[in-house]
Amino acid sequence: MPDDFEQMWTDLAPVGRSAATTGYFRQPFGAAERECHAWFVEQCRLRGLRVEHDGNGNTVGWWEPVGGIVPRERHHAEPEARADHVGLSGAGAVLTGSHLDSVLDGGAYDGPLGVVSALAAIDVLRDRGFLPGRPVGVAAFAEEEGSRFGLACLGSRLAVGVTGAEQARGLADRDGVRLEDAMAAAGLEPDLGRSGWLDRVGCYLELHVEQGRDLVDREQPVGVASAIWPHGRYRFDFTGEANHAGTTRMEDRHDPMLTYAMTALAANKQARLAGQRATFGRLDVTPNGTNAVPSRVTAWLDARCETEEVLAELVAAIERQACDRADRDGTALTVTAESVSSAVHFDGGLIERLGRGRPVIPTAAGHDAGILATAGVPSAMLFVRNPTGVSHSPEERAEAGDCHAGVQALADALQDLAEEQP
Ligand code: GLV
Ligand code: MN
Ligand code: MN
Repeated sequence: MPDDFEQMWTDLAPVGRSAATTGYFRQPFGAAERECHAWFVEQCRLRGLRVEHDGNGNTVGWWEPVGGIVPRERHHAEPEARADHVGLSGAGAVLTGSHLDSVLDGGAYDGPLGVVSALAAIDVLRDRGFLPGRPVGVAAFAEEEGSRFGLACLGSRLAVGVTGAEQARGLADRDGVRLEDAMAAAGLEPDLGRSGWLDRVGCYLELHVEQGRDLVDREQPVGVASAIWPHGRYRFDFTGEANHAGTTRMEDRHDPMLTYAMTALAANKQARLAGQRATFGRLDVTPNGTNAVPSRVTAWLDARCETEEVLAELVAAIERQACDRADRDGTALTVTAESVSSAVHFDGGLIERLGRGRPVIPTAAGHDAGILATAGVPSAMLFVRNPTGVSHSPEERAEAGDCHAGVQALADALQDLAEEQP
C-alpha cells in the first residue's frame, strides 16, 4: 500500500530539518537530499512506477499505459507554432513533479509539495479507476535552487540542454567540490547532458506552493501561473587593501566592505524606484576577521524584473553606482553574470485547461517548469495558497485543505491530458 498524502508528508518532515531553526537544509547530493530521493524511489516502487535515473541526478517514475505506446521523438515546436495548440504535443507523455532540494534553511513545501502531490494525484486517478492513454511521469529534479553549485534549475537545465555538460563540469560548491565529484560521492554515476527521457515528454505540469500572497488576497486555494519574470544572478567582486582595523586612519583605507555596503543600499533603492526586485543575500569576506579591513568582498545580486529590458537597465544602474563608489573608495569592482533567465510565458492551451475559473497569476520565482518551457516543452504550473506568503524560509506554509485541493486539481489535469490515446 503506498503512503497517502499525510503519511508522505510525515515521512519527509524530519529529513534535513534543523533543530535550531526548524528550516530545511537539503542541498543537492548531500545526505538529506539523497534520503529524499531514496524515499521518492521507494514511493514509486510502492506504486509500481518504472523508475528512470538520468546522468544529471534527476529521477522520473513512469506510470505506463496498459499495452504501452511507442515513444517517438518530440519535435521542438517554435513558440509561435505552439500559440493555439491545446497544450500537448505528439505522442508525448504527461510529466509532472518538482524538486526535493531546498535553499539553505528553507521551507518544507518549496519543491516537495509538487512531488508529493504528483504521487498523491496518481493515487486519486487510480481510485477513480482511470487508466492513462499516455505515460504519466513524476519527476524529481536535482539542484533546482542552485544552493550548492550556484546555478538554479541545474538538473532540468542539463536535462533539456540549455546548460551544457562542459559548463556544468566547471561548477564547484563553496568547498571547491566539483559537481561530478559530489554526484559520485553520493553514489551516482554522472553522465551530464541531455536526458533520454525528454524525448517522450509531451507536456509538463508542476504544482508548487505559492511564494507570495496573491492567492491569500484573492481568497483562492489554487491558482495557475501565467509567466515567470526574467531574472539573473550576478557576482560582484570588490577588491581593496587589507589593513589593521585599529592603526589605519579612516582616510587612508581602501575598504571593499564600504563599497559593497553602498552598493547594497543602491540596489534596494533602484529596485524600489523601478518597482522591481533586487537582493544581496550572499556574501564572502576575505579574510573575514573582526580586526582587519578586508581585502576582498564578493557579493551575489539576485535581480528580477517584469521585462528583460528593465532587468538589464536595473543591473546596469546598480553596477554604475557601485563603480562610482569604488572610484571614491579606491577599490575595484568586477561584475560577472553567473546566470540570466529570460521571461517565460506558460503554454496558453495548458493554462486554459487548468484555468477553470482559477486566478492566473505571474511569478518572480524560477522553476524547472520555466526551463522545460524555454526548451519547447508545453508547460504550466498550479500554485497552492501559502497563508504566510513567506518562502525560502522556515515560515513557508500550506494548509492541508489547500494541499488536497491542489492534488485534486492536478489529478483532474493529468486525467484530462493523459486520457487521450496518442
Ligand atoms: C527558486 O526558487 C528561485 O526563484 O530562486
Ligand atoms: Mn521550487
Ligand atoms: Mn525555491
